[in-house]
Amino acid sequence: MSKKILVVSGHTDLKNNSFANKIILDRLNEIMPEAEYLYLDSEYHDFKFDVEKEQNRLRAADVIVMQFPFFWYGVPSIMHKWQEDVFVHGFSHGSKGKALVGKKLLISFTSGAPEEMYQKGGIQGYPVEDFLIPLKQFAAACGMEWSGFIYSGGLSYASRHDDEKLKQMKAKALEHAERVLEKIRSL
Ligand SMILES: Cc1cc2nc3c(=O)[nH]c(=O)nc-3n(C[C@H](O)[C@H](O)[C@H](O)COP(=O)(O)O)c2cc1C
Repeated sequence: MSKKILVVSGHTDLKNNSFANKIILDRLNEIMPEAEYLYLDSEYHDFKFDVEKEQNRLRAADVIVMQFPFFWYGVPSIMHKWQEDVFVHGFSHGSKGKALVGKKLLISFTSGAPEEMYQKGGIQGYPVEDFLIPLKQFAAACGMEWSGFIYSGGLSYASRHDDEKLKQMKAKALEHAERVLEKIRSL
């Protein structure tokens, strides 16, 4: 793959409190070792970003993948803070902020609620894609190309004690990683 891929993990505690995202990221590392991986929780547990370093990482990428668990219908706190601090006026937007123009943004995320709950009139009220509007406009405001999203539901932390459910969740997370790779290849 000649495109430069940057995968940013927004899980707040990947090592100690993740099942699905950890499997997805470990698998992506195996099948896409040439990509660069940024684990926000391990590099910036204090939420204090090296802004210049992270802006340079973004500059070098052709495809930016945001990998995260859905936390209260959006990105987790650490990923939001990364957006707030790194994507600043004059870098990502504004009349002189053109650093990200033309880069592709791919969203890859998991949710605890199963897919079928995300529909109009369903328990989660709206189709899952409706919750991505802020990210879509984030891409647009930064001149990035929206490359869509890869999503898997039903990966609940409440099922972590159930061996059968864990098996199913593992298979689903592995399949999710394959879909991410397939999507990246198509970009
Ligand atoms: C603080 C918090 C907020 C969450 N908010 C949502 C939510 O809004 N919608 C949903 O479907 N699942 C929600 N979940 C469930 C997570 O999305 C789910 O556990 C996660 O995607 C599984 O990935 P992991 O095993 O890598 O942690 C939430 C979980 C936590 C801990």
